[in-house]
Amino acid sequence: MKVLIADKFPENHIQTLKENGIDVVYEAKAGENDLANFVKDAEFIVVRSTVVNQAAIDAGSNLKIVIRAGSGYNNIDVKAASAKGVAVANTPGKNSIAVAELAMGLIVSLDRRIPDNVKDFNCSVWNKAKYSKAEGIFGKTLGIIGVGNIGKEIAKRAQAFGMKVIGYDVIKTEGIGIEYSDNVEKLIAASDVITLHVPANPQTKGMFDEKLLGLMKKGAMLINTSRADVIDEDALIKAVKENGILAAVDVFKGEPEGKDGAVTSKLQNIDGIYVTHHIGASTEQAQDAVAEETVKIILEFKNTGKVLNKVN
Ligand code: 3PG
Repeated sequence: MKVLIADKFPENHIQTLKENGIDVVYEAKAGENDLANFVKDAEFIVVRSTVVNQAAIDAGSNLKIVIRAGSGYNNIDVKAASAKGVAVANTPGKNSIAVAELAMGLIVSLDRRIPDNVKDFNCSVWNKAKYSKAEGIFGKTLGIIGVGNIGKEIAKRAQAFGMKVIGYDVIKTEGIGIEYSDNVEKLIAASDVITLHVPANPQTKGMFDEKLLGLMKKGAMLINTSRADVIDEDALIKAVKENGILAAVDVFKGEPEGKDGAVTSKLQNIDGIYVTHHIGASTEQAQDAVAEETVKIILEFKNTGKVLNKVN
């Protein structure tokens, strides 16, 4: 059996695949426009954020599973895969801790303005007066929208920081020490910090719009490590400029598909907005766990014909 890995993937896990008789084609720099040329007779395509479009799926003469080595699979044309009888699978929960760690980092960064501190220092500017004005996050209320694998990891960490945690989700998990709200608007109005952990789908597209942003307390923080589509970026910029909202996002509209190069975004150079490089899942620990699960999906299919973590 053959796998096309069209994204960065740890070497030791490639080795495990080979030792188990899997033929590996490793094209880490393949992108949406040339993926179709590499698929050929591979049974599996493995990607992180590389876009798998209909052309790539149609090009696979032997394709059985497209594996999203990560959580969100909105970069895969699931409809085209389903129409062709190709399974789509992901690795849920395997990078949750890494994303939660980044979300906590972004909260503290906004409160203490760490990136601005560093930027000024590197420009030879000393401003202890300005940067001493942080509020602190102890005792503040964190509203988690989407209390799944990642949301639960954030809840634990926020509680360790002394925050009160409230959550909004259709599925309510008992015993994690958080209060649930049945009304997202009430949760937003009650929160000092809001963190988004919902998938990109038609229901969540543009969900965080002018109306929801308008419910946030003055000076409240919005963290988005989920997907760019969830936030209306124009409304966010307006809320930051006019209502004193602070925002830190790891995802934004027009994110480059590749791992390096130029970037342009409406969110650049706005006081009160920090943007990181979609690095939520990018720790060695998380990528190791994700790769291990990916290998498990491939070997399970090879040995039993079963598709683990199938989403379609
Ligand atoms: C995910 O959906 O798993 C995360 O957004 C990580 O995406 P990445 O693997 O492309 O960094």
